This record gives sequence, C-alpha cells and structure tokens, in this order.
Amino acid sequence: MKIYKAKDYADMSRKAANIISAQIIMKPECVLGLATGSTPVGLYKQLVEWYKKGDLDFSAVKTINLDEYKGLSQDNDQSYYYFMHDNLFNHVDINEENVHIPTVSNDHLEDDCKTYNDMLNKVTIDLQLLGIGGNGHIGFNEPGTDFNSKTHYVDLKESTIKDNARLFFNGDEDAVPKQAISMGIQNIMDAKSVVLIACGKNKEDAVKGMIEGPVTPELPASVLQNHKDVTVIIDKAAAALLEKEY
Ligand code: GLP
Repeated sequence: MKIYKAKDYADMSRKAANIISAQIIMKPECVLGLATGSTPVGLYKQLVEWYKKGDLDFSAVKTINLDEYKGLSQDNDQSYYYFMHDNLFNHVDINEENVHIPTVSNDHLEDDCKTYNDMLNKVTIDLQLLGIGGNGHIGFNEPGTDFNSKTHYVDLKESTIKDNARLFFNGDEDAVPKQAISMGIQNIMDAKSVVLIACGKNKEDAVKGMIEGPVTPELPASVLQNHKDVTVIIDKAAAALLEKEY
C-alpha cells in the first residue's frame, strides 16, 4: 500500500483527482470503478473543473459504480444514480452507454445482482476508487462479508444506516433504505489498481484497521493489504491513530 497524508480535504481531493486524470490521459478508453458518499464530492468537482478547462476527455471512458440502494428511483436525489449524474456525469462528455450503476428492481434482487456481475465479468477495471465506511466497509460490503464475494445484495448494518442518515432528509434514519446491491469484495480485488480516500475523525478507526490491523472480514477494507496496487490518500484526522510513519 502506498499511503499519502493530505494536508486537508481539498488536498486529498486534488491528489486523488490527479491520479484519476493520469489514468484517463494514459488510457482514454479506461474503465473506472466509481464510488459515492460525501468523501469523493471534491474529487469529482476537481475532475469537472479540469474537463471544462479542456484538460480531460471522458468520451471513451467507461464507468462502473460500486453500489446502489434498494427502493430509491433514479430521480430520487439520494440514489447513487442521481448522485453520480449530479456530481460528475451531467458535467462531462461521458457517453451514457458507458455508464454502469446497479439497477435495483425491488422484487428481483438476485437477478439484478447476476446481471451486474455478468457485466463485470466481461471487463477489467483499470482503477477502482473507494471510500471507506466508519465500520471499515468498502462499497456496501459490510463487516463479515466473504472475501470471495461477487455482486450481492446486502442488509445494511445499523451503524451504516446511522452514518448515512446525515445525507438523508433531516438526518432521518427511517428514510435510509435497509438494503442495497454492492459489487463484492472479489470484484473490487480484481481491479488493476485501487485508490482509497478517507477524511475526518470518524474514519480513524477504520483507517487504522485497514492499514495496520490484521486482514479480516470483520474489517472489509483490510483485504486491500493483499492487493498489489493500492494508493490510500487520507487527511490528518483520518490518519490520527496510525502508529508507523508513512
Ligand atoms: C456509503 C458507500 C461507500 C462509501 C461510504 C462512506 O456507505 N456505499 O462506498 O465509501 O458510504 O461515505 P462517506 O464518504 O459519506 O463517509
């Protein structure tokens, strides 16, 4: 793992955006695995800015998102479909046919998982962007998820519902869906390279476990210690519990 400590959120976002830009420039038809959450918002903003300046071209880029909530329509502003369009896709020249986000039909979750996984089996992700949950989840792979897992549906943990409630109407936990579809840990590990970003004190335990803890399904992000090309970019608060110097 390469670990970079960023000065602050803006610095973390710029560093990660630089790596993603380099990927797009070196391979214009690259496959990007993309993440949602509040952490990558600044990074996407930076990519849009560079696109508008003429420095980036998304016309041949393919994207594959990690996950989606069950029960939210695409026009619901809390859905990950909406998030990705609002923060990135609507502002760049990406071809909508190249965009992949899990479709969640309320009654056929198994079929939805199979469809997404069949699509994943046909491509190799060049660069997978990740955030991390306060409990160490990646995508929506909650503690206890098998490292061999492929796209699957998930009962979200109470801690995740609590954490993510801040992004819902008035922080209302009842508004947060209780299930989601997520790429599995094996799908993530199959990516050629991984960039994980984390910021804020509420990520310090998860970051410590991911980098210095044992590799265990109890802290899903720790599996990244077994990946050969991982770059972690964290701010000072998220890095606070690390014992070694990086
Ligand atoms: C959700 C997403 C994850 C994301 C996590 C952290 O649970 N499924 O992909 O990493 O939230 O979100 P935030 O960046 O808002 O802390």
